[in-house]
Amino acid sequence: MSNQEFDVVVIGSGPGGYIGAIRMAQLGLKTAVIEKDATFGGTCLNVGCIPSKALLESSEYYSAAKHDLQQHGVEVSEVKLNLKTMLSRKDKIVSDLTGGIKYLFDKNKITSFQGTGKLKSANKIEVHKNDGSTEVVSAKNIVLATGSIPNTLPGIKYDGKKIITSTEALNLDKVPKKMIVIGAGAIGLEMGSVWARLGTEVTIIEYSKQIGGPTDSGIAKRFLQILKKQGLNFVLEAKVSSAVVEEPMVKISYESLKDGKSTELHADVLLVAAGRIPFSDGLGLENLGIEKNQRGFVVVDSHYRTNHPHIYAIGDLTPGPMLAHKAEEEGVAVAEIIAGQYGHVNYETVPSVIYTWPELASVGATEEQLKEKSIEFNSGSFPFTANGRAKAMGMTDGIVKILADKTTDRILGVHILGPRASDLISEAVVAMEFGGSSEDLARSFHAHPTLSEVLREAALNVDKRARQM
Ligand code: NAI
Repeated sequence: MSNQEFDVVVIGSGPGGYIGAIRMAQLGLKTAVIEKDATFGGTCLNVGCIPSKALLESSEYYSAAKHDLQQHGVEVSEVKLNLKTMLSRKDKIVSDLTGGIKYLFDKNKITSFQGTGKLKSANKIEVHKNDGSTEVVSAKNIVLATGSIPNTLPGIKYDGKKIITSTEALNLDKVPKKMIVIGAGAIGLEMGSVWARLGTEVTIIEYSKQIGGPTDSGIAKRFLQILKKQGLNFVLEAKVSSAVVEEPMVKISYESLKDGKSTELHADVLLVAAGRIPFSDGLGLENLGIEKNQRGFVVVDSHYRTNHPHIYAIGDLTPGPMLAHKAEEEGVAVAEIIAGQYGHVNYETVPSVIYTWPELASVGATEEQLKEKSIEFNSGSFPFTANGRAKAMGMTDGIVKILADKTTDRILGVHILGPRASDLISEAVVAMEFGGSSEDLARSFHAHPTLSEVLREAALNVDKRARQM
């Protein structure tokens, strides 16, 4: 039994848990974190955002060396893939970053417990350690930040080899000849892109009419065209109904939602990227009657409080977009609330990014959402083809679209399909956070020549006065 009592114990060390814990410690709260995995960082650092970005970066270099360097006058005679090196580079990035969290915990005097945390009472947590022993930790406040796991689909059973989740897709020891991906969301498009660049024939089957989730439909159409041009195959408006391993292949059946027709496909690997579900197994929520909704998300109020006044929940475990930066902001907000401050998250300005090439980044409303709500708006677009820097880089695929309120000109949504969209979107987030208008963006300096000038031209085009085209 631990004789320590903490002001806050956080269960889970993903972006929500570890960023929240650091803020708690900064605010003078005696803080502990319980983590079941061997390393800190949760899905994002270990098997999500970070390793996938490492592979996206490496596979982009490989693809550029094979296809794009010639146009720059750089001739490479024999481009060879060393998958082992690519994967170990990714592993090294992950271990550096997860080790970095340990350093941050020590620096901020945060106590960590390795094991699975289970709620015993409103202020006691039992930690089941990996060596079989248990320890009880006391806390005045508890923050649940246990994240999410891949969704399962009826009729499809993961075997970790032929039918895999994104976790295994980060570690394939050879390049498969054929891969089928279920879902054209962030994971499907990112991991599909990685393996397609490395030489796999990738087919992505998607239930909806468009790719990239609830993206602006005009942008989604353009995105689809560009990815198809890169060699990715898509089957839209189709539902995968079953998948069985028939060594050495996996057989997939899908039904067209348009005509009900069934089709069978074979592949070396099936990646299921059909969303994620909140993870609270073994957490003991039932011991305290903590309320979950029908989809398994823990129900919280606007202060992240569960139906227990001193037990909070944040991140993927709670409703809202399953994004690392959403969890981080909630971690900070909950820390400030526990410390008696006014923690707050502005959900109107959560950006979302798909890190393909080009990248797709959005913040705020789509055109369709504004029409649905009968909000009148002006729209301004501008393509990367007309931007000097994009031309110099040889990366002109894409477009920026800005939607602004018809009366006030306040920015309501920004959608960027283009090179480095993930970085460019921050300008839009800040502008929206300050209640900025398209005129504000249009009148702000943008260094020349930069990709950010496309945003400015799109802002000028809200008033139909772009200069470069
Ligand atoms: P997602 O929810 O973004 O996309 C899943 C897609 O699968 C949907 O478009 C859905 O229509 C489709 N689908 C579901 N069942 C299907 C079926 N039986 N047949 C055909 N299509 C089907 O989920 P994803 O990509 O798995 O990502 C999980 C979570 O992780 C998401 O919340 C995502 O935002 C987050 N994530 C974010 C990343 C980023 O910010 N870049 C990267 C990776 C994941």
